[in-house]
Amino acid sequence: MIRFYDIIKSVLRLVLENMAGLKTRKLYTEYKKRLIKTWNEIAPRYHRRWAKDGVGPFKSTDEIIKLAQIRHGDTVLDVACGTGAVTKKILSKIGPQGRVVGIDSSQTAIYIAKNYVKNRSADFIIADAECIHFNEKFDKVTCQYALFFFPDSQKVLRNIKRCMKNNGTLALAVHGNGNTVPFFSSIVDVVTKFIPDYLPKGAPSLDRFGTIQELKREAAKAGFSNIKIMQYQYKYSPGTFAEYWKNYLRYLATPLKQKICELEKKDLKQMKEEIRTKTLPFTKKDGRIVFPWKVLILVAKKP
Ligand SMILES: C[S@@+](CC[C@H](N)C(=O)[O-])C[C@H]1O[C@@H](n2cnc3c(N)ncnc32)[C@H](O)[C@@H]1O
Repeated sequence: MIRFYDIIKSVLRLVLENMAGLKTRKLYTEYKKRLIKTWNEIAPRYHRRWAKDGVGPFKSTDEIIKLAQIRHGDTVLDVACGTGAVTKKILSKIGPQGRVVGIDSSQTAIYIAKNYVKNRSADFIIADAECIHFNEKFDKVTCQYALFFFPDSQKVLRNIKRCMKNNGTLALAVHGNGNTVPFFSSIVDVVTKFIPDYLPKGAPSLDRFGTIQELKREAAKAGFSNIKIMQYQYKYSPGTFAEYWKNYLRYLATPLKQKICELEKKDLKQMKEEIRTKTLPFTKKDGRIVFPWKVLILVAKKP
């Protein structure tokens, strides 16, 4: 009798676990669809404002290339290549015998990357990093500012590992956490207080790999070895507070902008005041804000 109940209990637990798994998967899928839409909208602005000229934290692009030790003739995979900022620099290292493949889930980003990079040694593919599969194995893999976007980051890291040669190198950059990247947190911490559903359900926390311990743990869990993490301290000035706020709205995806526009006038005013207060420690005498911006770059091997 007891065994019968035990069996029923185990079956029920399995059913419930499966249902929870399905629910999470559904949230992930919805989040990924929204992310593709967002990047299709903002990729041109992102390319102009940050990626093309290596502005502020994007100075990390040169560091990633150095740390990955990319050599003549290497085959390199650039995961979530976006508009091709890293891919283009990889090309200058691999020479005509090498090859680089950039993958990204946004078709607009890939379109820009193709036009920006324009080189016979580079191929671009629209693909979800969770699902890529290649017959060849790559010497090096790069991934700049994307790991935190993947809802199932473990699945992506394991997939990346499968795409690499044994002893191949992964070089990956992420932003620091909220405290160390006030450019993001000054606004988002306050906005989410006024608009609790500002970041939609199912969206992973974007600073969850923003410390050495968190990033190291994630890479080790996926089976990478020889993990080293370097920290960089960059600076970025978004101008005065008025310019910071104006550009935040200008570069924002439509659904988030709508939520801010729907706020009552008095709430919007109070919200802006709270954001302004957060920026004061970084505001210079001439009114310009200069934010510090921490970046972590991980280098690891496929054992
Ligand atoms: C901040 S951008 C970084 C782009 C590029 N690596 C760079 O440094 O300029 C993040 C990129 O991740 C891409 N992305 C997000 N989730 C993805 C996924 N599941 N598979 C592939 N690309 C993804 C977005 O489309 C976007 O282009």
